[in-house]
Amino acid sequence: MPRQFFVGGNFKLNPATRVAKQNLINILNKADIDSNVEVVIAPPAIYLIPVLEAVRKDIKVSAQNSYIKKSGAFTGEISPAQLVDAGIPYVILGHSERRTLFHETSDLVAEKTRVALDEGLSVILCVGETLAEREANKTAQVVQDQLKPVVALLKPEDWKKVVIAYEPVWAIGTGKVATSAQAQEAHADIRAYLKQAVTPEVAESTRIIYGGSVTAANSKELATQPDVDGFLVGGASLKPEFVDIINSTR
Ligand code: G3P
Repeated sequence: MPRQFFVGGNFKLNPATRVAKQNLINILNKADIDSNVEVVIAPPAIYLIPVLEAVRKDIKVSAQNSYIKKSGAFTGEISPAQLVDAGIPYVILGHSERRTLFHETSDLVAEKTRVALDEGLSVILCVGETLAEREANKTAQVVQDQLKPVVALLKPEDWKKVVIAYEPVWAIGTGKVATSAQAQEAHADIRAYLKQAVTPEVAESTRIIYGGSVTAANSKELATQPDVDGFLVGGASLKPEFVDIINSTR
């Protein structure tokens, strides 16, 4: 079965006001969106419920992070169980900003993934190398090392609810997008790793999306690559061009 194209909008710590948030939602609600594409937007936690209530029902809502516990004395955290209770179907885990600014290890990301799946969430799992790692020809190894602890904790059937986002750190928010050849190569390496470490079926069916300076100007070409199954968009998801990125396979 062909993999459904997936486009996520990671709003990060944006927008700064409720009015700006509503403007973004109004744009999406009025847009002509390709119904073959799975579209997921990830607003900051404080806006999850208002966005869920305001956005059209064919657009799904995702959290940007979740913790490993259901409830308890964990100040500032949000649990997968609470997200499910609020009607949120997705969570982004392992984003490079979480890994670097908030010191999340690949083991913690794997544990978060396991717990999120156990609670019934789907996971957008982010991986990617730094510029120094790419220049040292370590991209495939770094990405595999990030995936390994997840592979160890997941059963093959769990992968149905995982989308892997390959986001090279050097491309995030820099305006320096990976070339389609670079993205294709990294995605094919991830698929080859899943084939050998999980199963050929999981490798074939898991969506691997690209993130890092995706815009309406570069998304069409990236989308032609056989192993690029969609995008995780940061900055451009806050602009009207997000609609063109969603529709890039049209
Ligand atoms: O998660 C999406 C992201 O990290 C890419 O951000 O702003 O480069 O599209 P941006």
